[in-house]
Amino acid sequence: MDKKLVIANWKMNIPNEGIDHFLKSVIPEITDLQYVQPGICPPYLFIPKLFELLDNSSVLLGAQNLHYEDNGAFTGEISAQLLKTYCSLVIIGHSERRRLFHETDEEISRKIQTATQCNLTPILCVGENITERKNNLSNKIVTSQLITGLSKINNFNKLIVAYEPLWAIGSGNAATPNDIELMVKVIRQVITERFGIESQNSVRIIYGGSVSENNITKIITLPNMDGVLVGNASLDPLQYSNIVKNIETIIT
Ligand code: PGA
Repeated sequence: MDKKLVIANWKMNIPNEGIDHFLKSVIPEITDLQYVQPGICPPYLFIPKLFELLDNSSVLLGAQNLHYEDNGAFTGEISAQLLKTYCSLVIIGHSERRRLFHETDEEISRKIQTATQCNLTPILCVGENITERKNNLSNKIVTSQLITGLSKINNFNKLIVAYEPLWAIGSGNAATPNDIELMVKVIRQVITERFGIESQNSVRIIYGGSVSENNITKIITLPNMDGVLVGNASLDPLQYSNIVKNIETIIT
């Protein structure tokens, strides 16, 4: 059985009380677990520091974005070529990037392609906004994000898809277990129909949007749920390690 993923997305933040305090209190609690694979995606600036500090731990290190070109005149951008020295994961197409930085599905597909070529595991984020949900467009939106986003790869072995409905992110109100379960089914179905049975078996599907120590049990015990992407709660060392430890206990 694959371990459950618990990926911290720090966004443009550092944890409460600083990175050193976070790692000191969290690492002993989350290293070498049997059923959980933790990962941390800090702001770019802190990636080399975490790379050193996480050296002897089993915690994965990831970035929150990349540029699809290998190098060149792209001021302010970071390529997969540069990230691959330090990271094994990269979040791609987060709704904040789509919404605030106007990333398109086409650009996202190029990012997924580059990440895969550089041996980084992409975490493709998909999800609908509240208006789309109210208009019963959730399945349609997520399907189209998947089909275009994955159109340039044929190796799905390392792919992670995160279902992150926009209305749940940072709101304190996670999607209901029922909503999550239905969408995980849709995602698996789209991947199977479009990209074949083998790809659906290897793709891991996780949920993100107001995950906390209070709701983790209901989310992680859903069928075919491979893990969670955690924003706010991952900035608090106690919450983050409680989420990880809860899963380790439940799965045991
Ligand atoms: P949240 O963020 O846990 O704060 O809702 C999740 C995310 O945006 O990845």
